[in-house]
Amino acid sequence: MSPQPQAAVGAPLSRVDGRLKVTGRAMYAADQHVRGMVHAVVVDSSVGRGRIASIDASTALAQDGVLKVIHHHNAPRLPYDANPGSLNLPGERLRVFQDDRVQFRGQPVAVVVATTLEAAQHAASLVKVGYDSERPATDLADAPAADNPRTYARGDADQALRSAPVRLDMTYRMARNHHNAMELHATVARWNGGTLTLWDKTQWVQSPRAQLAADFGLPPESIRVLSPFVGGAFGNAARAWPHITIAALAAREVGRPAKLVLTRAQLYSSVGYRPAYEYAVRLGSDRRGRLRAMTHDLRSETSRYETFVDRGVVSPGQMLYTTPHVSQRASTVPLDVNTPTPMRGPGYATAAFAIESAMDELANELGMDPVELRQRNEPDNDQSNDKPFSTRRLRDCYRIGAREFGWERRNPKPRATRDGDWLIGTGMASALYDTLRQPAQAHVRLNADGTARVETASSDMGPGTYTSMTQVAADALGLNVRNVDFRLGDTDMPPAPIHGGSLTMASVGSTVQDGCDKLRRQAIELAVQDQESPLYRADADDVVVRGGRLHVAADPARGETYRRLLVRNRRTHLESTGAYTPPSGEARTSMYAYGAVFAEVAVDARLGLVRVRRMLGVFDAGRIISPKLADSQALGAMVGGIGAALLEHTVTDHRDGRIVNANLADYLVPVNADVPDLKAIYVDGRDDEVDPLGVKGLGEVVLVGVAPAIANAVHHATGRRVRQLPITAESLLGI
Ligand code: MOS
Repeated sequence: MSPQPQAAVGAPLSRVDGRLKVTGRAMYAADQHVRGMVHAVVVDSSVGRGRIASIDASTALAQDGVLKVIHHHNAPRLPYDANPGSLNLPGERLRVFQDDRVQFRGQPVAVVVATTLEAAQHAASLVKVGYDSERPATDLADAPAADNPRTYARGDADQALRSAPVRLDMTYRMARNHHNAMELHATVARWNGGTLTLWDKTQWVQSPRAQLAADFGLPPESIRVLSPFVGGAFGNAARAWPHITIAALAAREVGRPAKLVLTRAQLYSSVGYRPAYEYAVRLGSDRRGRLRAMTHDLRSETSRYETFVDRGVVSPGQMLYTTPHVSQRASTVPLDVNTPTPMRGPGYATAAFAIESAMDELANELGMDPVELRQRNEPDNDQSNDKPFSTRRLRDCYRIGAREFGWERRNPKPRATRDGDWLIGTGMASALYDTLRQPAQAHVRLNADGTARVETASSDMGPGTYTSMTQVAADALGLNVRNVDFRLGDTDMPPAPIHGGSLTMASVGSTVQDGCDKLRRQAIELAVQDQESPLYRADADDVVVRGGRLHVAADPARGETYRRLLVRNRRTHLESTGAYTPPSGEARTSMYAYGAVFAEVAVDARLGLVRVRRMLGVFDAGRIISPKLADSQALGAMVGGIGAALLEHTVTDHRDGRIVNANLADYLVPVNADVPDLKAIYVDGRDDEVDPLGVKGLGEVVLVGVAPAIANAVHHATGRRVRQLPITAESLLGI
């Protein structure tokens, strides 16, 4: 079969929705204005644990425009059926306004519904709530773990550690981080009899549908969710959080559509976050740096009502480096907090800070180059399951990274390079993230005017899914990009999986390609059987489509356009359904994306201030569909990683459970002045084992190695090992 020419895939396209976004015409959830709409504002608990003793809404209700104040005394009892959706956690999800319990500071205790936002906000400040409060437990460091840790063992790690010539024992701590996307979480809910329409910020339109169907006891088909644009999410708009239920409840109670937009402060208690971790590592190696044993003891915070664990946090310890003896114990610590959730590079980024710092400590102990140390421990297969890797080009990442970064110019001695007041250091770290795939479907329609529309209920929280899917569709259909209209974000469209876990390109991309391949073949079949077509009796396998024109691959003159073909055949359009289903049964290979990150930092020797001077990431993520968007992901993740390494820290006052920096002035995120020249390189090559497109997923792996690379560079600059994120000026005093 003649291969379809590839013109759009691999081209550095700008975002197809860029103009809509920069001109303000992209409609986000909070931009929706529905006729007759009212506004809902949530009242949060001002204690961290206890019971609501009294609620006095009389002053609030007396304000102009206030329609209703809903709380546990007057809210209808909702069914809160089990939610079969895959985002369910062990435990019982928060049930808004169903009883008097307060389980964390900032829990919704009432909602004010009013005709204007200002009236609702003002009235919310007038709702008087009395509490019987207790002191909450919110500190991971001094609370007991639940007694059901996840464990893993191979070999006898304790025994092997005892006999290892080189032994290290360290504990790393990672602060809680909040996603803090630019867009606030928002929902507009409109009932029409028993059916509900939601405009919602979500990474997965099926998620609020499943959640609200279960909460209200409705058939899922009676709920439509629309989410065409999402202004960043990083994992936090995957689950349907309680405010979505509140919005639907508010709308139902007043009989009018309702808009609910969480405030920036409310994002710190109403939606999830990356949990704080303690990660203890013991490792043993021989004198040549070959790992003999590693133990991993983890503690992470969760709420008391649900148990959240980062699925992937144990994987790197099991398969990143050749290690004969491994033991792991991952415990959750229930606290009086709201439930955490995946945040970019979930689990892997946390594990990488501990393991990649520990490897750097081992390199120092041995006086060995950190890249060389990693090369010496590069495994031949996945030791956790004895499977071969589908592709693993981590060695290439090291080699290319070291060369491009100028690693060999490095003086291996810590604290050896100075530039005025600044101590200069370099560090590196490995990265990995597993390649996930989920079933998806898409609908493809080719119109007689030579344009196509492709639809699937995916999301685009920012990586540029509109654009990358348009590229895949354009090449498979043989159309110019401008003639493809890709749509997503609507439960009425064919189902797609969660837009997270770096699985969209693999899953939805393969689906879009399948649907467009089928449609192109349909058109080709129509042409070769059409006596009036120049392609009549051509071999269908020899026909390709380019720029909307079908032709024999070896004889471009012999052909015609989609438009002529369809018009002559009196067809208004052709359509097809694309599908992708990951192979059933156990995978034959171990599938991961990889990377190596190199960073240079300068640390002010007197002030402890850390500046990142430059950073390079080299990534093995399989085939790159959209290089410009890949850079947007990779460089964006480096910015996020600078935040995790040096700035981001959700601070709780453990006396009362209050988050003291619940705003973007005090919760520090990197700004332009914090970000140096960044560069990303992609190791060439598709992975045919993982999915039809050959992509391994990019958006998560690019974050994973950033913080440890910076931490290792800080050690190299100063000689001070900071085993805690973020690395603050305080932790570098007296260097
Ligand atoms: Mo990503 S944490 O799955 O949005």
